[in-house]
Amino acid sequence: MTDSTTLALISALPQPILLINSEGFVEVANQPARELFGGRIQNAQIRAHLRQPEILAMLERVLTDKRDDSASFVMATGNHETVWRVVARNGVAGMFVLSFSDISDIEAAEAQRRDFVANVSHELRSPLTVLAGFIETLQGPAGEDPAARTEFLGIMSEQAARMSGLVADLLSLSRVEAVEKIRPRSPVSISAVLKATLAALRPQIETADITLNYAVPDDLPEMPGDYDQLVQVFHNLVENALKYGAAGGRIDIEATKVDVSPGFDGPALRVSIRDYGDGVEPVYIPRLTERFYRVDKARSRDSGGTGLGLAIVKHILSRHRGRLVIRSRPNEGACFEAILPLT
Ligand SMILES: Nc1ncnc2c1ncn2[C@@H]1O[C@H](COP(=O)(O)OP(=O)(O)OP(=O)(O)O)[C@@H](O)[C@H]1O
Ligand SMILES: [Mg+2]
Repeated sequence: MTDSTTLALISALPQPILLINSEGFVEVANQPARELFGGRIQNAQIRAHLRQPEILAMLERVLTDKRDDSASFVMATGNHETVWRVVARNGVAGMFVLSFSDISDIEAAEAQRRDFVANVSHELRSPLTVLAGFIETLQGPAGEDPAARTEFLGIMSEQAARMSGLVADLLSLSRVEAVEKIRPRSPVSISAVLKATLAALRPQIETADITLNYAVPDDLPEMPGDYDQLVQVFHNLVENALKYGAAGGRIDIEATKVDVSPGFDGPALRVSIRDYGDGVEPVYIPRLTERFYRVDKARSRDSGGTGLGLAIVKHILSRHRGRLVIRSRPNEGACFEAILPLT
């Protein structure tokens, strides 16, 4: 039996707790545990409620050997999965304590980290393989052939540029993430940002054979921001419009002040970059800002893309308490709208 102090203590704990006897029947379930398993958990056989091999095996070990142990347990409600870490302690008077901690966030972060490392390695591996291959070729007889040597060195320098581009993007992503909680406050003129962006992209714009419609008034109010990061945002957006939308023959850049915008308390600037190219299927839109996500992997890679551009854009906008709105339909082009609060 459990005394009233113990019961009070267990019921005060925020995490689900069960006390089970040596047969596996639940003697005490605190409120969080009743919410997790339903009221019927009281006096029920715990094995009937934790029907997953890992945790059942753990229970047998605990009940037979009377020792402490732990295991994970996945609970699905609708399309949402919660991962619980269940710690079993051999308590007093033949009772066992099972405590449940929600480790879903830790598991998700861990999975994300693994994906990230796998992606980075994969992205670095292909240019490295190419480089190593050509070095070997140049060390052989081909190295004596001036035409072949020039061609191979050209490819090698492209691959080296790819790798340094990737590393630069990764660094800029981690720099933005590091300061994401600190909102930048220097007054920035968005038209100066856009002019600098276009000046840097001049060569690509000229070779793209497009008409650029630029509708950005010079007298827009200044906004609190980080000039260099904002240049990076619009550089990535315009570069994408040139890479994926140039077939449409036209790119529109517009900026306006809006007094009300969904999700914003005060006035904001709305800057849109619109192209008339292939666009994307709406189902892919929410994924575009994920790291390394590319709709058409081969095409993006051919143009030197790694799928980090929009992830960087999203982080910089979020640091500015702003938002990215993407609208697109196949064959109707794409419109990327950055909304940046003025106050
Ligand atoms: N204007 C656009 N039109 C059509 N698809 C686009 C457009 N902009 C982005 N995308 C799609 O979104 C994907 C992700 O874009 P993002 O800028 O993050 O990466 P990237 O351009 O492939 O590589 P990076 O920017 O790192 O060089 C692109 O690969 C492309 O499939
Ligand atoms: Mg890009």
